[in-house]
Amino acid sequence: MKVNSTTFQEIHEPMYILEEDLLRRNLQVIHSIAESADVEIILALKAYSLWKTFPLISEYVSATTASSLNEARLGYEEFGSPVHTYTPAYTDDMIEQVARYSSHLVFNSWSQYTRYHERALHANPKLSMGIRVNPEYSEIKTALYNPCAPGSRFGIISAQLPDRLPEDIEGFHIHCHCENGADVFQRTLKHIEEKFSNWFPQLKWINFGGGHLMTHKKYDTGLLCRILQGFHQRYPNLNVILEPGSAFGWHTGPLVAQVVDIVENGGIRTAILNVSFTCHMPDCLEMPYKPDVRGAEKLTLAKAKAPEESHIYRLGGNSCLSGDFMGSWKFKHELQIGENIIFEDMLHYTTVKTNMFNGVPHPAIAFLHSDGNLEILRRFGYEDYKTRMD
Ligand SMILES: Cc1ncc(COP(=O)(O)O)c(C=O)c1O
Repeated sequence: MKVNSTTFQEIHEPMYILEEDLLRRNLQVIHSIAESADVEIILALKAYSLWKTFPLISEYVSATTASSLNEARLGYEEFGSPVHTYTPAYTDDMIEQVARYSSHLVFNSWSQYTRYHERALHANPKLSMGIRVNPEYSEIKTALYNPCAPGSRFGIISAQLPDRLPEDIEGFHIHCHCENGADVFQRTLKHIEEKFSNWFPQLKWINFGGGHLMTHKKYDTGLLCRILQGFHQRYPNLNVILEPGSAFGWHTGPLVAQVVDIVENGGIRTAILNVSFTCHMPDCLEMPYKPDVRGAEKLTLAKAKAPEESHIYRLGGNSCLSGDFMGSWKFKHELQIGENIIFEDMLHYTTVKTNMFNGVPHPAIAFLHSDGNLEILRRFGYEDYKTRMD
């Protein structure tokens, strides 16, 4: 089916729509950074796991990074190459399997390393193992996303590192960014080098984690390349890996929903939709952030109460959670039942996090090819809801 990618007027059901042209644009940016900075940039599956698009993504990047057995298997089987794996805690029932799916495996603590390093290497003698280190420095403002806050459970701090690392530790993994620019990486790298460069001669690789939002229009990709080139000059023995997730799916398509009712209470009008913030756009409530809605102006809370003729609406989800709404947006016309509401930039950290709370229908997932044809990748039904629970 051909669709109009401005209005999506042919769509009458809730749907995440991944747009090929936008995805390719991001992939080109990522690929050219990897080339000019001589680093490996891999896809973090936690942010984006639409595996039917992996053949396209593998035209630009060569591997994925996993944070669980399921992700490791998906990356190995569907992306088609061994994964880089880090999880906060491996367990007896998964360590060998994870090791077989992985090229790189990172331990979060010394106790995890001690418990599992021999078993992992035995399962996959080619495995390159590393440890996650915590630089105790991060500029992330939202506590929920700060892995370096005091008392964090992530990574080993420099005071806990022996002068001589175990022989089979070949890499350090550091994750301390979230939707950050290259300037933040530049400042953070100073702390990382101060704390950990003594150990660099013992390593083969270093992974600077995710959170590098290199496909954001304001991201200074030139600065990132210069930082990485400088790092190479100082430590030529280290292969450098970055594993962003958001940067791949950033602004690659919307969630299209429809208005199903309009209610009013105390001067506040809410357009109830056939999607839910808590089920289908969870980061809006968690982060929190207010998404852009195509053709509507975002208003501050203070302006939310408004006279009827101003076309100001809260948007409400179709779950029973009282807080499943956001507000307010100003539209150019009075909203009508059945019309499309288009939430921008809904492809990263959505389809990987959605749930079926209240049994609300899950939006379909579709791929808009460059030639304008819309391919439905998946529709969800009662069986998907039912089979999650037995
Ligand atoms: C260890 C690790 N790597 C990579 C990522 C991906 O980060 P982002 O999607 O912000 O680029 C995350 C996100 O939480 C992470 O925890």
